[in-house]
Amino acid sequence: MNHQTTDANEASTESLSLKEKAALLSGRDFWSAAPVPGVPSIVMVDGPHGVRRQEGTADNLGFHSSMPSTCFPPGTALGSSWDPDLVEEVGRALGREARALSVNVLLGPAINIKRSPLCGRNFEYLSEDPLVTGVLGAAYVRGVQSQGVGASVKHFAANNQETDRMRVSSDVDERTLREIYFPAFERVVRDSDPATIMCSYNRINGTYASENRWLLTDVLRTEWGFRGAVVSDWGAVSNRIAALKAGLDLEMPGTDGATVAEVIAAVEDGSLASEYVDASAARIAALQRRTALGDDETAFDADEHHALARRAAASSIVLLRNENNTLPLQPGNAVAVLGEFAAKPRYQGGGSSHVNATRVDVPLDELRRALGEDRVHYAPGYGSAGTVSNAALLRTEATDLARGADISIVFVGLEEKEESEGFDRANLDLPADHVALIQAVASVSARTVVVLSNGGVVILEPWHDRVDAIVEGWALGQAGGGAIADVLTGRTNPSGRLAETIPCRLNDTASFINFPGEAGHVRYGEGVLVGYRFHETVGVPARYPFGHGLSYTTFSYSNLSARSVGLDEATVEVTVTNTGDRVGADVVQMYVGAPAGPVRTPARELRAFRKVTLDPGESRTVTFDLDRRAFAYYDITDHRWAVTPGRYSIEVGRSSRAITSRSTITLDGDAGRPSPLSLTSTVEEWFTHPVVGPLLIEGITASLTEEQRQAAEGMQDGLKMAYSMPMNQFAKFPGVTIPLESLHQLIEASKEPSFQ
Ligand code: BGC
Repeated sequence: MNHQTTDANEASTESLSLKEKAALLSGRDFWSAAPVPGVPSIVMVDGPHGVRRQEGTADNLGFHSSMPSTCFPPGTALGSSWDPDLVEEVGRALGREARALSVNVLLGPAINIKRSPLCGRNFEYLSEDPLVTGVLGAAYVRGVQSQGVGASVKHFAANNQETDRMRVSSDVDERTLREIYFPAFERVVRDSDPATIMCSYNRINGTYASENRWLLTDVLRTEWGFRGAVVSDWGAVSNRIAALKAGLDLEMPGTDGATVAEVIAAVEDGSLASEYVDASAARIAALQRRTALGDDETAFDADEHHALARRAAASSIVLLRNENNTLPLQPGNAVAVLGEFAAKPRYQGGGSSHVNATRVDVPLDELRRALGEDRVHYAPGYGSAGTVSNAALLRTEATDLARGADISIVFVGLEEKEESEGFDRANLDLPADHVALIQAVASVSARTVVVLSNGGVVILEPWHDRVDAIVEGWALGQAGGGAIADVLTGRTNPSGRLAETIPCRLNDTASFINFPGEAGHVRYGEGVLVGYRFHETVGVPARYPFGHGLSYTTFSYSNLSARSVGLDEATVEVTVTNTGDRVGADVVQMYVGAPAGPVRTPARELRAFRKVTLDPGESRTVTFDLDRRAFAYYDITDHRWAVTPGRYSIEVGRSSRAITSRSTITLDGDAGRPSPLSLTSTVEEWFTHPVVGPLLIEGITASLTEEQRQAAEGMQDGLKMAYSMPMNQFAKFPGVTIPLESLHQLIEASKEPSFQ
């Protein structure tokens, strides 16, 4: 087995007995690891967007209460900020709160890819794109860990739905895992050295993540260099011994000693080598040392953190539509605020991430504060589920207000109970009474603004064209009310961008026919074509594409230049200018499109981005350094990243759809580095191999008479028909007969290091 521990780690646990070491590998209770002599207990709590520290009855589904802490914007919002500096700052504050609440490890970030907009936990996740997810996930970990608190990067891996989440097998081909579902984890591991990784509940291609040695050891530790501890999701271990052998260090929560006894018995009867126990115990001891707290932790500054939560929320709001500069609101406008969410905001989701907020900003109050009590009038327009018998009356009251106002702001969205851990959504629709309110208001109001509160995206079609402005307000955390007021009034210039596509219909989404699977399996049949990769490649229109987001100012791009450097690397520069009349932040998005090659690639993929704040008229040149991976696909035959030789397009734009500048670069790729041949490589692969091909032709023609040679030349085209044949079959055909021995020699020639 692979010993990943250091001498120092070994030293701290070598004096422990087998019983003590085994005790370290399973939780003491719901939220802590068992203490043993020299290794105090470690407290681990959720996560990701607040510290959910429970004092009384414990649970991981958000039923019982927890100590007050700041509810920062959930992942869906932070993902839309496209701002790693901001996310790192939030991470620092989370780490600070964790310390104050005596927490050693915070269970976040949650960095699963949003494969389907229906996933019940999309409100916790960052994006449908691995780069956005990875860059922001790494920033979060840096922030949390800067405070001496460990992060737990979850849920590894291919956990992209809630339906049957504890048993389902995510059936995903390796290329798709490597290109879509792994890169964010890989980036976080390589860039920010997380203290722990949490393995997911589900199976991957039939094997539980918790028992998957390829996943937890070969890929995570050996390939990516992960140095921390692997923790199970709560209740994700089905076979403790198999899990230990796979590389799962700590089982959470504990099982009242049952699995500790199993581990001891397995070592004693020889079915489990003691090295597994030693290695994992050493990792837990190292985790404890790395995340140890002092006895004198002080309280966090709730006001300061609330202010940060407000700033972060404001940077995450996405202005989707703003016809005729409807927003920002003009001073003196008479405003009708409609919809119960304005007074009872929806700001987080259900389940283990549920935070007991220190306070909650109410959008209506914040708007009144900003615009003046007398300028803002309110009607609920609909009622919380179960209380409505007078829907029509509520709507009439709202439309009466809307008629008399200069502008109406309609707050609609999904209730918290609709979006939660543990189940997926059934559709992407807003509640019918919310839609009815929008329609009714839009038909009488001078101007209508819709503010959405939702964790995952919703369909806008039935009413989209009837309203003047749409503000995607996500689940914004406890200070969302203030942040919405900041954006509506123009105090903050919106700068969020969609980190996930808003489709026109659920049926238009890539995973539609394969979500959430059946008979215990979910087939990731769309492969790498997830989210915008699908829409852009297949040409399926979206209501709002990935990357979209408006501002109260305007930006232009110029002087795009791209040049290749080194071995299949590139440097790209582009100048962005604020062409409007107010300060604003833009997100420069850079996409790469690959030439046709041996695998089908998406039309374009986001390969770099940067958020920049510019004064009116100011320009800035942004430089992106692209490494080889930005151009590579994962070659499942050779188990390596490969680059197709040829011309790549380099594109900058306002979204995955609205590309405004284009350039190209040409890369040598793997032209000079062909794969080694085998007997089952095709005739084409043999004949076109740069070294072996000519040798092969020479060998064959050498034995021919002049007449036969001329005939063979005439048959060159005919050879194409045999191109797809494996060489071992072709070589035996009458009239061909290439000796096996010669083939073996040529195979060796194809392995020459200079050609790898
Ligand atoms: C969730 C994890 C969470 C854990 C502890 C599980 O149900 O999937 O995200 O960290 O519970 O609450």
